[in-house]
Amino acid sequence: MECEGKTGIHAIIVPLPGQGHINPAMQLAKKLASKGIAITFVLTQSWHNTITDAHSSTGVNAFSHARNLGLEIELVAIPDCVPGEFERGNKLYKFSQSLDNMESHVEELIKNLNQSNPTPVSCIVSDTFLGWAVPLAKKLRLLSVSFWTQNVLVFSITYHSYLAERQAGSVIHIPGVTPLQPADLPLWLKLSPDDVVVRVISRCFQTVREADWVVANSFLGLEGHVVEALWEKMRVYCVGPLLPSAYLDLSEPRDSVVGTSYRVEMDCTQFLDDKPPKSVIYVSFSSVLPMSTSQIEEIAMGIKESDYSFIWVLRHPGKECAEVSSMLPDGFLNETKQRGLVVPWCSQLKVLSHPSVGGFFSHCGWNSTLESISVGLPMLGFPLGAEQFANCKLIADDWKIGLRLRSGDDTDKVIGRDEIAEKVRRLMEGEEMRRAAERLRDVVKMEVRKGGTSDSNLERVVDELKTKLI
Ligand code: UDX
Repeated sequence: MECEGKTGIHAIIVPLPGQGHINPAMQLAKKLASKGIAITFVLTQSWHNTITDAHSSTGVNAFSHARNLGLEIELVAIPDCVPGEFERGNKLYKFSQSLDNMESHVEELIKNLNQSNPTPVSCIVSDTFLGWAVPLAKKLRLLSVSFWTQNVLVFSITYHSYLAERQAGSVIHIPGVTPLQPADLPLWLKLSPDDVVVRVISRCFQTVREADWVVANSFLGLEGHVVEALWEKMRVYCVGPLLPSAYLDLSEPRDSVVGTSYRVEMDCTQFLDDKPPKSVIYVSFSSVLPMSTSQIEEIAMGIKESDYSFIWVLRHPGKECAEVSSMLPDGFLNETKQRGLVVPWCSQLKVLSHPSVGGFFSHCGWNSTLESISVGLPMLGFPLGAEQFANCKLIADDWKIGLRLRSGDDTDKVIGRDEIAEKVRRLMEGEEMRRAAERLRDVVKMEVRKGGTSDSNLERVVDELKTKLI
């Protein structure tokens, strides 16, 4: 990914401060920089510290890798005005409201950048969940790109529910969207209309219509019909999956990307190298949403009963460095040490793309889903919140690349070990699901290569940006 020549455009990119939003925003930053746009990437101070922390070589490498390629990306910090991931926990309300605190800092930053920088800021690229960003761009007479980090189906359902049909009564049919059970709807469509989260998201979907462009981290081969139907009302350009290019293009050596996240990553290569092909299940749930101790115990026993080897990313829900053994059944770590590895964090993409890994037991976060699809792995879905139930429904029912373990009907129910063990086995042995996942992987490769639809869509946005600025 080398720079194609400078355009004289300077964009600031403002992701929502969370791993699942920063990761794809960083990849978008690299892609835009490779098309000659100078990028200022804005993070809250603690995320900035995580990424530039000398102990977290992965974060430093991700950025120095970009700079080594000649890409113009500057990292800047604004004060910590929103709760960090670990303080956040279940306090979604506080978190949603606090996102507004970012606005004044970003406005001040733009003023400072314009005084100190030879190329003034001409565009704000912001996460769609930052409802203040498009109006700020208008106020400062800048162009705006709204960046949707989830799938277009969820965008379309939210768009229609909040803006159009909801005003006239209940939503009956959304063009391009296959039927969904109410329990599978994104969390923000299950809350009462006067809930704080609903008010925050409602504002985002009012302002997104004013954006000059909306780009989404999805691809047409997956969601072409949803995008096409939505285009009658709103243009959303799919430019994904936004993942490190080494994982999308097998001709580029994987070693050129040392890490894929911004935390200290445990290296699982040695463990995986010793295992037969497709014999390991990778287990990782959200970095944010907590899970009950009894559920963790059942998952541990289920994996154990399945007899498959595993890598499990498990962290204490409240503290970054807390010991996890107390969360697991007595003797679990000892009894499974030959075939299991429990780690606090790893390079997920590196693990998923190792030939010994045969399946992904996941909370169905959108990044995890795209990562699994991009390496052709089937998924066992255990959604926890946000829009993950909808993602899981797509995985299991529409794309048929996996199985589901949990529905949104009864989220207090603990799923037992026997069901978990049985579905782990079905996943690891299910040839049709694997073939369907591999077919999608091949589609991804076509879409992201030069001239593919995702690449062309981004090219189109950049061309239009240039034209509007002349
Ligand atoms: C939530 C929503 O569910 C998701 O759909 C939305 O787009 C972002 O917020 P999150 O819980 O952050 O998602 O999960 P996910 O979207 O899957 O992102 C997690 C990221 O962390 C992935 O890119 C994954 O590769 C990375 N990760 C996770 C690691 O690099 N190492 C790990 O050990 C675990």
